[in-house]
Formats: sequence, structure tokens, C-alpha cells
Amino acid sequence: MAKIVILTGAGISAESGIRTFRASDGLWEEHRIEEVATPEGWSRDPALVARFYNARRAAAAAAAPNAAHRALAALEADGRHEVLVVTQNVDDLHERGGSRNVIHMHGTLTGALCHACAHRWPAPPEMAPNDPCPACGARATRPDIVWFGEMPYRMEEIWEALRAADLFVSIGTSGNVYPAAGFVADAGHAGVPTLELNLEPSAGTRLFDAARHGPATEVVPAWVREMLA
Ligand code: NAD
Ligand code: APR
Repeated sequence: MAKIVILTGAGISAESGIRTFRASDGLWEEHRIEEVATPEGWSRDPALVARFYNARRAAAAAAAPNAAHRALAALEADGRHEVLVVTQNVDDLHERGGSRNVIHMHGTLTGALCHACAHRWPAPPEMAPNDPCPACGARATRPDIVWFGEMPYRMEEIWEALRAADLFVSIGTSGNVYPAAGFVADAGHAGVPTLELNLEPSAGTRLFDAARHGPATEVVPAWVREMLA
């Protein structure tokens, strides 16, 4: 059974109405990364950070999976391929689209994390920074999101899956943030064929063996139809 590792980024959720980070109207044009997406920013102003992620959580809850999410779920459900989705997205549209085997390497908006004892629990729709931890009582509740300067989740497992893959596909990511941006080179060194599906050429587009450019709701279902033909 062919093993396919699929990396996704904000672009796959764009047509569901979720804003990307680096577009001209992206989130990082309006918010400073140092203020809302670093542990230092959170220490300085936890209320601001909580508001930022409360807004992201509300946007994700209001969005629905699109044809690209559903196509990846169909590829997995078909059963002829072993599919692993590694997503940088903190929304849950892959799961709601039907994917089962998903790793959230940058965490998830549906989770709360205690910065003091690392206990995790489901996030309420509106998180407040002084919410006490249900396990240790510390008032150090943060969103379960991997911030800049922190180590993404489950990296050893991801690298192992990449090395053992028969195909690596990158969808809707600009290729600016490591370690995810390095997966194409990691796969290439392991002799794994690589394919980019993105609206436009990403920062690392030359490193891919093949690339198809267009909206995810068009190029992803088209690619899945070929895989299942
Ligand atoms: P980075 O590549 O500069 O470094 C991440 C950290 O992990 C560094 O401390 C680095 O030394 C360490 N590291 C990297 N590879 C390692 C390895 N193989 N073994 C051990 N340690 C290793 O990345 P960054 O710019 O600091 O961002 C960190 C991560 O957080 C990124 O993946 C980024 O996308 C994510 N992030 C998420 C959000 C969000 O809102 N979801 C926001 C910002 C950053
Ligand atoms: N279909 C396909 N691709 C799209 C679409 C679409 N409809 N719309 C946008 N894109 C592409 C853009 O061309 C861009 O290359 O998706 C990519 C989105 O890039 P970013 O906004 O940089 O998002 P991402 O790559 O996921 O960011 C990585 O950075 O700040 C962090 O932690 C955050 O996980 C995020 C990480």
C-alpha cells in the first residue's frame, strides 16, 4: 500500500473563509507576530493573545470544510493508500472533512494548555488567561498553539513517516516557516518523490519534482481523482 504524507497550510482553508498569514490581506499584516504568536508576547499581554485566538477559534467554528479537505478524506477512506495529513493549521477542518489520520504540528484552537504543568483540556469558545488549570490550579492557561521559538509537535514521528513515504505532497503553504518548510528537502534526500499543490509557486517550489498551481478546491480534487482512477 503506497504511503502518502501530505503537508497542509493555511491555503487549504482559504476557500473556507479562513484568512491566511502572509497574503496582502493576511493575519500578519494586521497583527505583530512578536505580540500574538510568541511565548514572550503572551507573557507581556496574555489578554491580547487570548483575544487574538478567540477570534481565530470563532472564525474556524463558523467555517466549513471545502472540496480540498473532503478530497483528502476520500483518498484516505478509499483504503488503497496509507494517508497521513500533517497540518500546520490550527483549525479542525481536516477532521470535520472526514480525515482520520491527522497530526496538528502547530497545535489546535480546540485545545487549552497549562503553561505551568503542561496539562491539556478542551478549550472553551472564549478563553481567558486567568482561567485556572483544572489539574494544578495555576492561572497560566494558554491556547494549545505552537508559537514562534517553540518546538512543533510530534516531529520525530513526522520525520519517520516522511522518510518511509512513497510520495510527499505539500498543499497551501508558502514554505516560509521551518521545520515544515524543510520537509520537501527532507523527503528529497530520502528519495521520496515530491509534489506541490498551491495557488502560486511557494518559496521552495524549485525543490519539488512536480508542481501544479491553482486554487486548492480545484487542484486537490483533480489530483485525488487521478490517484483513485
Ligand atoms: P524555528 O525553525 O526558528 O525554530 C523552532 C525552535 O525549535 C527553535 O528553538 C529551534 O532551535 C528548535 N528546533 C528546530 N528544529 C529542531 C530539531 N530538529 N530538534 C530540536 N529542536 C529544534 O521556528 P520558529 O520560527 O521559532 O517557529 C516555531 C514553530 O512555531 C514554527 O513551526 C511555527 O510555524 C510555529 N508557529 C505557529 C504559530 C501559530 O499561530 N500557529 C505562530 C508562530 C509560529
Ligand atoms: N488554494 C491553494 N493555495 C492557496 C489558496 C487557495 N485557495 N489561497 C492561498 N493559497 C496559498 C498562498 O499562495 C500561500 O502560498 O497558501 C499559502 C499560504 O501561506 P501562509 O499564509 O504563509 O500560510 P502557511 O504556509 O500555512 O503558514 C505557515 O506560519 O505563522 C505561521 O504558524 C503559522 O502555521 C502557520 C505557518
